[in-house]
Amino acid sequence: MKRFEWTPALSTGVAFIDAQHKELIRAINDLGDDLQRGQGASAIQQTVSFLKYYAEWHFGQEEDCAAKHQCPIAETNKQAHGQFMKMLDKLSADLRQTSDHESVAKEAHHLLCDWFEGHIMKIDKQIGDHVTKCAAAS
Ligand SMILES: [Fe+2]
Repeated sequence: MKRFEWTPALSTGVAFIDAQHKELIRAINDLGDDLQRGQGASAIQQTVSFLKYYAEWHFGQEEDCAAKHQCPIAETNKQAHGQFMKMLDKLSADLRQTSDHESVAKEAHHLLCDWFEGHIMKIDKQIGDHVTKCAAAS
């Protein structure tokens, strides 16, 4: 089972974004721990519900920050966030359509680890760099 460790390599340089990313990573690791104990099925619904609420709120905060600083990739970031929310909807639909929630939990854990790691490395770090430069210039 992959453990998604937060490392300084994931830092965006923006404290509030990093703090929110750590919270998201904690939720993903909680699901990983439950899977490890063979209890993914009882945890997955809560993980999806939490992410629907928390990730959406976090994305809004990050998007406002990117827009305020006129980040060149603000729109790309917004689109990626939209795709993530669709991925959560798909997981919810999977949970309604199958009784094998343990398998959905495994798939979800894998998708969430990959999505967040890739998104933070490819997009959020660029936003962080831009915001940090703006702050230094003001
Ligand atoms: Fe983002």
